[in-house]
Amino acid sequence: MDNFAGGSTVPETETDAAVPGVPAKPLPVAELHLHIEGTLQPELIFALAERNGITLPYSGLEELREKYEFTDLQSFLDLYYANMAVLRTEQDFADMTRAYLERAAAAGVRHAEIMMDPQAHVSRGIPLEVCVNGVASVLATSQEKFGISTMLIAAFLRDLPEESALEVFGQLLAMNAPIGAIGLDSAEVGNPPSKFERLYDQAREAGLRLTAHAGEEGPASYITEALDVLGVERIDHGIRCMDDPDLVERLVNARIPLTVCPLSNVRLRAVDTLADHPLPAMLAAGLNVSVNSDDPAYFGGYVDDNFAQLTTVFDLSDFDRARLAANSIHSSFATEERKAELLAELNGRELAS
Ligand code: HPA
Ligand code: ZN
Repeated sequence: MDNFAGGSTVPETETDAAVPGVPAKPLPVAELHLHIEGTLQPELIFALAERNGITLPYSGLEELREKYEFTDLQSFLDLYYANMAVLRTEQDFADMTRAYLERAAAAGVRHAEIMMDPQAHVSRGIPLEVCVNGVASVLATSQEKFGISTMLIAAFLRDLPEESALEVFGQLLAMNAPIGAIGLDSAEVGNPPSKFERLYDQAREAGLRLTAHAGEEGPASYITEALDVLGVERIDHGIRCMDDPDLVERLVNARIPLTVCPLSNVRLRAVDTLADHPLPAMLAAGLNVSVNSDDPAYFGGYVDDNFAQLTTVFDLSDFDRARLAANSIHSSFATEERKAELLAELNGRELAS
């Protein structure tokens, strides 16, 4: 499956599977669509509950795991927000972030743009400084400890009024929070991008990069709105663009990055099975797609798991995977210098293998 647009310096090889039984070293990638609260593994949920003296409404890991059966986005969000109750201290946020980075490093992630949902914590009485500083303190040493450069993205909950987002955004600016971008997440349908025009105007004014979830469960028109009304540079998910050929043409021509999350789309029933996922059609259309894990603790896998399952189901070649990895690096908000470094690593790895 090599028939997608966009030239590459990466040669086609079939060497990853050279040693039977030995897992191929993952390609260096940028993870661009990741909610840090979605990396809370069941074991960590129980450990943090114990440390904080919180009684969970589940008798044990097994009963919690039984809840990971979702029917749509909202059914996931209900559990995702409920489990955040165990995050109380800076140490909790730091431990969660460290656990993600450790696992992400093993998955080949070399640059991570990490969303967090400040409103989901402030509304529980957790000071903004606690959640921001807890995550940011670990990100500050991520490159030296894990080889992963990072950017923190403040994501805003679209099912709350814009006033709430504006208030928290103002507080983030006032505390000089180390954020590089804003995003928009939570329940999509009925909460169109245009609801957040003022927020995005203010973020642009503050010099931040702009992304938003659009076209996950919501219609293709939300993608158009995110581009035209919010002025976003990147779309999170975006799979519903395939319903609108004119929009696909626009996205291809403008090279707008779409941060696709295949296992998430299966678990939240945006598609019936992985085999029904539009990723191959998106690549064939020439769209600038990358592969991301979204909420890996809830959706059955990290970036490497997403790549592995896509490879099995769609018979992706080394060239396909390298293209996806290159797209992720090009689509990141990293410095040009860092992008060049990672692209050289990707190309060098391919040439050496
Ligand atoms: N979609 C919308 N909101 C979210 C998601 C998602 O996949 N994950 C965490 N918040
Ligand atoms: Zn998401």
